[in-house]
Amino acid sequence: MCGIVGYVGGQSALEVVLAGLQRLEYRGYDSAGAAVLADGGLAAAKKAGKLANLQKELAERPLPAGNTGIGHTRWATHGGPTDANAHPHLDNAGRVAVVHNGIIENFAVLRAELTDRGHELTSETDTEVVGHLLAESFSSCGDLAEAMRQTCRLLEGAFTLVAVHADDPDAVVGARRNSPLVVGVGEGDGDGEYFLASDVAAFIAHTREAIELGQDQVVELRRGAGVTVTDFDGAPADVRTYHVDWDASAAEKGGYDYFMLKEIAEQPKAVADTLLGRIDRAGELTLDEVRIPDSVLREVDKVVIVACGTAYHAGMIAKYAIEHWTRIPCETELASEFRYRDPILDSRTLVIAVSQSGETMDTLMALRHAREQGARVLAICNTNGSTIPRESDAVLYTHAGPEVAVASTKAFLTQLVACYLVALYLGQVRGTKWGDEIGELVRELSEASAWVEDVLGTMEPVRELARGLADRNTVLFLGRHVGFPVALEGALKLKELAYMHAEGFAAGELKHGPIALIEEGVPVVVVVPSPRGRSVLHDKIVSNIQEIRARGALTIVVAERGDTAVVPYADHLVEVPETPTLLQPLVATVPLQVFACELATARGNEVDQPRNLAKSVTVE
Ligand code: F6R
Repeated sequence: MCGIVGYVGGQSALEVVLAGLQRLEYRGYDSAGAAVLADGGLAAAKKAGKLANLQKELAERPLPAGNTGIGHTRWATHGGPTDANAHPHLDNAGRVAVVHNGIIENFAVLRAELTDRGHELTSETDTEVVGHLLAESFSSCGDLAEAMRQTCRLLEGAFTLVAVHADDPDAVVGARRNSPLVVGVGEGDGDGEYFLASDVAAFIAHTREAIELGQDQVVELRRGAGVTVTDFDGAPADVRTYHVDWDASAAEKGGYDYFMLKEIAEQPKAVADTLLGRIDRAGELTLDEVRIPDSVLREVDKVVIVACGTAYHAGMIAKYAIEHWTRIPCETELASEFRYRDPILDSRTLVIAVSQSGETMDTLMALRHAREQGARVLAICNTNGSTIPRESDAVLYTHAGPEVAVASTKAFLTQLVACYLVALYLGQVRGTKWGDEIGELVRELSEASAWVEDVLGTMEPVRELARGLADRNTVLFLGRHVGFPVALEGALKLKELAYMHAEGFAAGELKHGPIALIEEGVPVVVVVPSPRGRSVLHDKIVSNIQEIRARGALTIVVAERGDTAVVPYADHLVEVPETPTLLQPLVATVPLQVFACELATARGNEVDQPRNLAKSVTVE
């Protein structure tokens, strides 16, 4: 939540910052702002609303040219989305500018103290205090990095900050606690150029060399002198540099109208990349990244999966796979609820934290709680070097590439793949049920990319159906077994993108209440399991379809190709390829993503940036 950019180098700082903000707008779009150091002073502009509003303002009232600058795109927490609350925030003399991601919990006390000392604070934000504190510290120590350290020691909560000072025009200083911040090291002119951003996407067009910052670190980027990282007390800190393995084109729309369309289309590759190198020719899994020793995995007596939103749905599906394939009891829990119920955890509990961004605060807090109780934590994550993998015992990266659209699609499918791999790996290590059935499943999992490709080739009728339903108010989703989380995911996508009332139910629960919602013409999407194997499950859901149809529902049935039993009861039939039941979510989710995307477009909604949302949720 909130995107931050900083730049010092030989280029126009404003241009670099605005291009970076464009790439970070997925993190929040309530307001945008920028500040540059030029002509011995500091100039800033900020505007409520999307980045386009700021760009318009800058076209009308340009800032002077300078080579050092910062920028921000906001997801509002404290104070509404107004011009005054937009970042950067300046001190009263207009010499310091700061941008912030997170929440400063003790801002009210600090604000009162600053007011008593004669400062005038004009916004409703928690951030503004930081500009004033930095100005005070700088006036006594004359060193912006030291001023930042002194300020950070006063702050409570989650804060990632980037600041500049007009009296130190060749430096940008940042601090990181909890929310992400990455350094980019470019070549620039002879003096080098340096970037700071919430996400490498902001500077990937300039450099792929990055430095990961740790918790509670302060970084100074100084033109001609390089990068210095310390802890909040000034002790030098170890840093990890890495090369970003994707380039700028991966973060572009590439001819698609929306990132979401591109990301849906990229799913076959994302799935293939996530499987790559993890299954050998003999069908054995090699997950070297899972640095938790096999001896520990053999002793695990409970698995707990923590995640939020779409990642939680992936975790719900993983529970079915883990329990069925390994016979280890598994719970999946909303990360935001986890630590508040005093869960029973010990050194034999394996906690799996699933997160695309690796920055979701609820998930981070859940994993910290789990580690405090002695549990081992394995992260499933899409973002190299982000906080959740850094704080876990091990990580299995998904290789979805950058996901820019706020609604998660390709990350979800790769989270599923990673969850299946972990489930199968646990089975392999423990020898549980490891026999023909699992060996066959591993072989079948390798075909997942082709299945997804197959579904994507048949989506035109789904798009047409969605356009025809654009004026409806409600869509319900039903599923059983792994089809239940798929139904929840279909409903979530529709809510967040089409702003429609959409709910997912376990089909068996229908008769316990939700069936009262069914009336003439209500569209109900039903995810039907394979008729092969678990045919009882299949037969039960076919009965459920008949029950809702008898009450007037418009049935949209997602079923395996060749499933003739559903045909008489399907007003619209969406066929997906044959898969083992547990793997069906890999194909059944795709039409629901396409459905939601098309409905949102038909309703004139912003597909990539739905209202009120942000991609990386770094507040609890
Ligand atoms: C929905 C969506 C969110 C995220 C959730 C967790 O489309 O994207 O529900 O899945 O905020 O985010 P990560 O996976 O980054 O922890």
